[in-house]
Amino acid sequence: MTSFKQRVFSGVQPSGNLTLGNYLGAIRNWVGLQDTHETIFCVVDLHAITTWQDPNTLRDATREVAAGMIACGIDPKKSILFNQSQVSAHAELAWIFNCVARMGWLNRMTQFKEKAGKNSERASVGLYVYPDLMAADILLYKATHVPVGADQKQHLELTRDIAQKFNNDYKVDFFPSVEPLIFGEGTRVMSLRDGNAKMSKSDPSENSRINLTDDRDVIAKKIRKARTDSEPLPETLEGLEGRAEARNLMNIFAALSDQTAATICQQYAGQGFAEFKSDLADLSVEVLGPITDEMRRLMGDKAYLDSVLREGASKADAIARPILKEIYDIVGFLRP
Ligand code: TYM
Repeated sequence: MTSFKQRVFSGVQPSGNLTLGNYLGAIRNWVGLQDTHETIFCVVDLHAITTWQDPNTLRDATREVAAGMIACGIDPKKSILFNQSQVSAHAELAWIFNCVARMGWLNRMTQFKEKAGKNSERASVGLYVYPDLMAADILLYKATHVPVGADQKQHLELTRDIAQKFNNDYKVDFFPSVEPLIFGEGTRVMSLRDGNAKMSKSDPSENSRINLTDDRDVIAKKIRKARTDSEPLPETLEGLEGRAEARNLMNIFAALSDQTAATICQQYAGQGFAEFKSDLADLSVEVLGPITDEMRRLMGDKAYLDSVLREGASKADAIARPILKEIYDIVGFLRP
């Protein structure tokens, strides 16, 4: 029997440091999928420039995200790893999807509202059509499974809507239905300063996040300083309702130790945060320390990183180009 491997696609923006949120919500989950699925992982530099990026910083961040993925366990021999701008078919399909998606759909995207803020008139048009490019990333490979953190759910619903509308409009059964893979205790890692805000690369407060490039002392310090409350830890998770910061630290602990939040809660029931934080700091350093070391080592070898991205791009292009050709035929573009 021939085995059919389902195709996975996912991406990370090179718009700042990789955070613990990127790791627990996404990249860590990708590693296991490499053995069971055909996996394609992309550093999405076209997405990054929807907000201003200094060119030199963007180049460095692109390599850094690639180094981070490899250090977390993405193996360029098992997965295709590349940066988006090297495969021009992404931008080409995104244009077609700009013509498939409806203004009303994009108007409902919460990420645009968050990122554009009050001054949406000054946001780039790219930021507005960002989800169309994301749909193109996935559907260009006819990927069916997309492992992401919870914040990407709405974008993936839009991807399904675009695929369906394309299929309906052109009366084809071309694009598959896309399944989000959102799993583990770390699908929504929140800021260490505010349990109701996402931990994000772009948060102005350094203490709000743990970066994968932080050294051991910095990681431990950020966890010690993380905001909590004065109540002792409860026996069950229900007792953490309304205590967003405490719940967040519990989830991080659970995700890093591969246990459930309920188990960790029981373990620390009745205690204050001092011992819990000290153990969490040790655990974080134990898990992230080797990743940081490997990332630093890889960052010193730009030639290697560039060759991985170049070879990845060439493999990605070999899959994408024929699919894009079929799409052009379906749409009716003349190719004499
Ligand atoms: P980005 O670069 O913001 O984040 C990359 C991945 O990390 C996850 N993530 C989190 N998960 C849990 N808690 C957090 N605090 C946290 N912060 C980030 C994100 O959910 C994501 O999975 N639009 C995407 C990039 C993208 C993409 C794609 C993803 C472009 N094309 C196609 C999947 C498929 C983004 O901005 O991710």
